[in-house]
Amino acid sequence: EAPIGIMAALEQEIAVILQNMGESVSVHLIAGRRYYQGQLDGQHYVVVLSRIGKVAAASTATTLINKFGVRSVVFAGLAGGVHPDALIGDIVIGSSIYQHDLDASPLFPKFSVPLLNKTFFDSDDVLSNTIKQSCLDYLDNDFDTAFKPEQKQRFFQRQKPQFHVGLIGSGDLFVNALEKQNQIAEQMPDTLCVEMEGAAVAQVCYEYDIPFAIFRIISDRADSNAIMDFNEFLSEIAPNYASPILRRLLQR
Ligand code: ADE
Repeated sequence: EAPIGIMAALEQEIAVILQNMGESVSVHLIAGRRYYQGQLDGQHYVVVLSRIGKVAAASTATTLINKFGVRSVVFAGLAGGVHPDALIGDIVIGSSIYQHDLDASPLFPKFSVPLLNKTFFDSDDVLSNTIKQSCLDYLDNDFDTAFKPEQKQRFFQRQKPQFHVGLIGSGDLFVNALEKQNQIAEQMPDTLCVEMEGAAVAQVCYEYDIPFAIFRIISDRADSNAIMDFNEFLSEIAPNYASPILRRLLQR
C-alpha cells in the first residue's frame, strides 16, 4: 500500500513521533531534508520536516509525491490565532486554505493563484474527518494528563482546548503585530489562524490530485507577544501535542 505523507515545518512540532518511529525506519536525504520511511501500527508512512515557508514546503511536498508516491499528505504544526475564538492551545483543522500574501492584482484577483484561477484549496473531507476524530479522542482521553497543571495554567487560554474547523491563511510572514493581524482579518474575515506552509502544500497536492489535510495548534495570537509565545509553546508544549494526534490518525 502507498504510504501516507506526514509533514511539519520544525522538529519540535512533531518531536514525539520522530522519537518513536520504530526499528523499521529508513532515512533518505534529498535536497537537504531527511525523509523517514517506515511503518507504525501496520501503516506505511513517510515523515519529513519541510522547514519554514511556502517554497520549502512546496518543494518538500513535491518530493513526497514524486519520489515516495504518497497516497495523501497531512500537515501538522503551530499557527497564530487571528479569529477571536482561536485561542492559544486550541486546535484548528483547515477545511480550506489560501495565501494571504499573494496579490497579482490587477492582473489577477487578489489572493487568486494566477492562471490556476483558484484562491481556496479545500482539504480532503474523509482525511479531515479522521483527523477530527483523532483530535476529539485525544482531547477526551489524553489531554488531561498530557501536560502538568502549571503548563496548562501558563500556556493554555482555556481549561480545555477548543476545536475549530475552517479557513487557514498561509504567507511568508510571521505575523507579530495587531495591525497585520487585523489587516488579514479584514481582507478575509473567516480566517481562523495564520501559518507559513499549508497553502503551498495544498496547491501542490491539488495539482497532483493527491488528498491533503492539515491541522494546526494555536501557539500565539499573532500579536506583539507572538515571538515569545510561539518560542515557548514550541519548546514546552508542541513536542507532545500534535504527535499523539498523528499517532491516533495512523491507527485509524
Ligand atoms: N506560526 C505560529 N505562529 C505564527 C504566526 N504568528 N505567524 C505565522 N506563522 C505562525
